[in-house]
Amino acid sequence: MNVAHAEFVVSNTKVENCPKSQLPEYAFIGRSNVGKSSLINMLCNRKRLAKTSSRPGKTQLINHFLINKKWHLVDLPGYGYARASKTQKKTFQKFIIDYFNKRKELVCAFLLIDIRHEPQAVDLDFMRWLGEHFIPFTIVFTKADKIKEKGVEKKVSDYLETLQEDWEELPQYFITSSENRLGRETILSFIQEINESIPKF
Ligand code: GTP
Ligand code: MG
Repeated sequence: MNVAHAEFVVSNTKVENCPKSQLPEYAFIGRSNVGKSSLINMLCNRKRLAKTSSRPGKTQLINHFLINKKWHLVDLPGYGYARASKTQKKTFQKFIIDYFNKRKELVCAFLLIDIRHEPQAVDLDFMRWLGEHFIPFTIVFTKADKIKEKGVEKKVSDYLETLQEDWEELPQYFITSSENRLGRETILSFIQEINESIPKF
């Protein structure tokens, strides 16, 4: 799919204030610094559409981006940010959980995992929570450029092995690098296929 048009729409903390246009949307979630905002920029072929930073905790709000005037990408704050205060963490939990519970337009979440890291409880717990709430999601391994090509497969298969302890059927996954645009076409085709399966899209 060609991303011909991408524009920032709105940022907010309340799911009630998210766009009312009823377009299908795809949300990016995962630990702080995992590369959510960078992946959105990579998919849209834009450098600074979503704000990125080498310091965790950059994205603080629910950010909607309108793509090709037909669907939304949603950049969310990260979880597991060690330096966030208790109040910040609580607020985050509330509005993100609210977003996932209430946002009917959400057709699929992309849960990002840094390919270099061992499975972390916070991610496994969040996946479990999504599953329990029947929220469709896929896994996106990020920063594949940071490890040797040969190591990628092993990292992924180790991760999937851990998931097998929890999941009868493994979630779909993508391997990406925002640095060298790996996975771009695959993710965009995945989104396109879902969009086209939605009546009246
Ligand atoms: P928060 O908004 O804080 O939750 O972080 P985020 O998940 O949006 O991460 P962000 O996209 O801001 O990226 C964090 C850092 O990782 C930045 O310094 C990026 O340049 C870097 N980064 C993101 N994706 C990649 C990647 O695929 N490869 C490499 N090498 N660096 C990446
Ligand atoms: Mg971000």
